[in-house]
This record gives sequence, C-alpha cells and structure tokens, in this order.
Amino acid sequence: MVLKKKKLNSKDASRKLVTALDPKSPISEQYRTIRTNIQYSSIDKEIRAIMVTSSGPAEGKSTTAANLAVTFSQLGKKVLLVDADLRKPTVHHTFGVNNLFGFTTVLTKQKTLDKTILETEEQDLYILTSGPIPPNPAELLSSKSMEQFIEDAKSQFEYIIFDTPPLLAVADPQILANQVDASILVVFSEKTEIDQAKKSKELLENAQSKLLGVVLNHKEVQNGDYYYYYGSK
Ligand SMILES: Nc1ncnc2c1ncn2[C@@H]1O[C@H](COP(=O)(O)OP(=O)(O)O)[C@@H](O)[C@H]1O
Ligand SMILES: [Mg+2]
Repeated sequence: MVLKKKKLNSKDASRKLVTALDPKSPISEQYRTIRTNIQYSSIDKEIRAIMVTSSGPAEGKSTTAANLAVTFSQLGKKVLLVDADLRKPTVHHTFGVNNLFGFTTVLTKQKTLDKTILETEEQDLYILTSGPIPPNPAELLSSKSMEQFIEDAKSQFEYIIFDTPPLLAVADPQILANQVDASILVVFSEKTEIDQAKKSKELLENAQSKLLGVVLNHKEVQNGDYYYYYGSK
C-alpha cells in the first residue's frame, strides 16, 4: 500500500511541468502522442518500466521523463517517476521537496519503497527522489536489490518512469537499460551531435534494450504547423 504523504504542489514548483499546468497546450498534446506510441509498442511485450536518457547533459531527459510521467498518470494509471540520475538529480527540485530519502535509500534497504515514495498533486502520480548520492552509483544500479526494486515497483504501479544521467558520460544508463522494459532517447534539436546520438543508440542496443524511439526536444515549429497540429487532435 502507498502511504499517504503531504501533497506536493507541482504547480508551485520551480521547474514547471507543462503537462500539469496546461494539459490542453500543443506541447502537452505532443507528450500524449509519445504516450500513445509507447502504448502501441506494448503489444508484443508489456512495457511498464521505461527509462528516459540522452547522450549528454541538459538535453531534456528530466523534462521529458517528468512530463511523460504526468501524461501517463492522466490516463488514471498509477505512475512512479524515479530519479535514477544519481549524478545530477533534479526530480526533488521539480517537485519542490527535500531529498533526504529516496531511490538510494530503498536500494540500500534502509527504507521500503512504500515508505519513501511521495504523493504529488497530480492524481495517480508518485515520485521517488534520488536520495543521497552514493560513492558507487553504477554498483548500486547493477545490484540484486535493483532487480527487486523493479519487481516491487511493478507490483504497486502500472508505469515506472526512470530519469537517468547522460549515456555518453557514465555507465549507469546502460546498466539500467538492461533492466527496464524499454528506453527512450532524447535528442536536443540542433544541439545533440548526430554522431553522439548514433553512439547512444548503439550503447542502448548493446545493453539489449528495446529502444522505443527518439524524442526530438526543442524543435522549432512553424506557426502553421503548430496550429495544424493543435487542430488535428
Ligand atoms: N523543449 C524545451 N524548451 C525549453 N526549455 C527546455 C526544453 N527542454 C529542456 N529545457 C530546459 O533545459 C534545461 C535542461 O533540461 P533537463 O530536462 O533538466 O535536461 P537533462 O535532464 O537532460 O539534463 C532545464 O532548465 C529545462 O527546463
Ligand atoms: Mg536531468
């Protein structure tokens, strides 16, 4: 069972989530399109634990992960957003909470999952902040405890979305890729180098991860396209 905790106000948070603030906006509609695509990809294999990654820093991993988590919760399914970026965690900033306990606390068995997750203001959306940053993140992520974590989380949540560090910087996302059901690669329009994106795709394939697709973040849209998109809903 999920313990009721203080409700978190994502609308007052320092980093705004467009899908929560303005679900009717064209951007939120784009996130719903990604959600639908993920659901269609689930036909052969159940996809419930999904990680969001990218080649480098500041390409929109956390933004994408958080907005996708909100979008899935808007289907009325219980969703857990996990901050698995144990290098530069941000989920606690996004939701304006402290980060004394979290994912690492659960992995090291100091607390149980249901005592560590936090309810948010979005119905059906729960978060697990990173917790204290350990000296050995990669080791922790490849532990038996991580397998157990995914099993536990799946027994309580319909979807588990993992925010991760950059693929080309550390081994963590590759380790996670091997344990989740599928991964999503974020590419920042006109910033991510094509070679880096290709390399990232290779690393995910090496980790035997099902790559669901690439999210093109920060793509400039023409006014016409923008309204066309909106109108085509
Ligand atoms: N499409 C976008 N438009 C505007 N700002 C964005 C967009 N995507 C990300 N950002 C901003 O860029 C910064 C880095 O994004 P973030 O999601 O934290 O990246 P990462 O998790 O890959 O490091 C944040 O301040 C975020 O709000
Ligand atoms: Mg991030």
